[in-house]
Amino acid sequence: MKRLLEPEQLQEGVAKMAASINEMYGHQPLTIVGIMTGSVMLIADLVRLLEMPLRVGIVLASSYRNSTVAGKLEISTDWLLGVRGHHLLLVDDIFDTGHTLVEVTRQIRELEPASLRSAVLLRKRARCAVEEQPDFVAFDIPDEFVVGYGLDYRDEYRNLPYLGALEPEDLARHEERES
Ligand code: IMP
Ligand code: MG
Repeated sequence: MKRLLEPEQLQEGVAKMAASINEMYGHQPLTIVGIMTGSVMLIADLVRLLEMPLRVGIVLASSYRNSTVAGKLEISTDWLLGVRGHHLLLVDDIFDTGHTLVEVTRQIRELEPASLRSAVLLRKRARCAVEEQPDFVAFDIPDEFVVGYGLDYRDEYRNLPYLGALEPEDLARHEERES
């Protein structure tokens, strides 16, 4: 595992992003929509730094089922039915190709929020395949598969307090265990 961002660097990036969000919304009430499960750490750290009246909810969207290749998207939006007229901020772990955020945005826009913006911890500029961009980004990173601080490979590593890039020997270990 190659360490890319240490816990202190992650906290610093999240704090900067929180400051931008506080500046953008002022004291306007805001609803955070966390995209699970990858954004779990970011949500926990980010919401504690936001100063406006806040509601926090989640949606489920998994585009990487058991692989590093994008697959099916599942979104459950039950609690979101009451968000018409509210200011919403989507929060996700990473903007990779951008397909996930574009699809979630499309579906949530149909619920007619007053405004809809997005914030991500990480962005892989080199992989972007859509025209839309997140409104808030804590870090731009190189095109490597990263894990930790909420991000997973085959549902593992989410608990790492740092952000790491998987190396060939990490992947080989998975292959071994599963064969
Ligand atoms: P996108 O639809 O290609 O932008 O992919 C976004 C989703 O893919 C994220 O919410 C992650 O769950 C997953 N993903 C993309 N890149 C990585 C990575 O490097 N590590 C772990 N998960 C990733
Ligand atoms: Mg995700």
